Amino acid sequence: MSKTIIALDFSSRKEVMDFLGKLNEPAYVKIGMELAYACGLDIVREVKEMGHKVFLDLKLHDIPNTVKGGMKNLAALGVDIVNCHCAGGIEMMKAAKQGILEGTPEGCERAKVIGVTILTSVSKEAMNNELGIDGEVIDTVVQYAKNAKEAGLDGVVCSVHEAAAIHAACGDDFLTVTPGIRLAGNDANDQKRIATPEYARQQGCDMIVVGRSITKAKDPATTCALIEEAMA
Ligand code: C5P
Repeated sequence: MSKTIIALDFSSRKEVMDFLGKLNEPAYVKIGMELAYACGLDIVREVKEMGHKVFLDLKLHDIPNTVKGGMKNLAALGVDIVNCHCAGGIEMMKAAKQGILEGTPEGCERAKVIGVTILTSVSKEAMNNELGIDGEVIDTVVQYAKNAKEAGLDGVVCSVHEAAAIHAACGDDFLTVTPGIRLAGNDANDQKRIATPEYARQQGCDMIVVGRSITKAKDPATTCALIEEAMA
């Protein structure tokens, strides 16, 4: 299975189809709120029908009953990974998983449910002073990962720099999915704490999310193959 998830951060169906046309084989892609809010969930069905695997990155965060209902409807789309915020608490994460279990059509594999820990855009200062959580970011991230595991989730989204500590606390089979990846020589853009695919592999990251390093590459298919090689 591919360890690279390509972030389809586009705002139109045309851009998505133009990009997917440049790949040589079905890929693992991430559809986030930008694309889903622009095109609706029909784009998810269409990309799935083309044979791609889909991580639907809508980061649900609401009261448990609402998240359960939302997840139930997302499961019916046949997506492969969905997520919710760990900050919603254990009861909410349990409800998310329950929604997926109830909504998965008979005979289909259920989507993996992963929790978003502390966003990589949140600094220690912001976490302490704005969110009101004391201490180091890594401690909260590991606590959130443990909560996700207790709720029955399959893994978490975290930064490359946190993957090893999460595996130590939650086990090797608890998935770590990590964005913030750049190839040597690429622009960091708005990402603060970036890492190469090689470093991600060394840290034990199970899957990496790569956006612009692939979508803006001259030859996305070759770039994808190189990244997969580095993660193998
Ligand atoms: O283009 P780039 O590789 O920076 O894209 C990273 C993708 O991962 C984007 O879709 C972004 O929303 C997502 N992401 C992230 N950091 C997080 C969670 C998600 O960069 N903490």
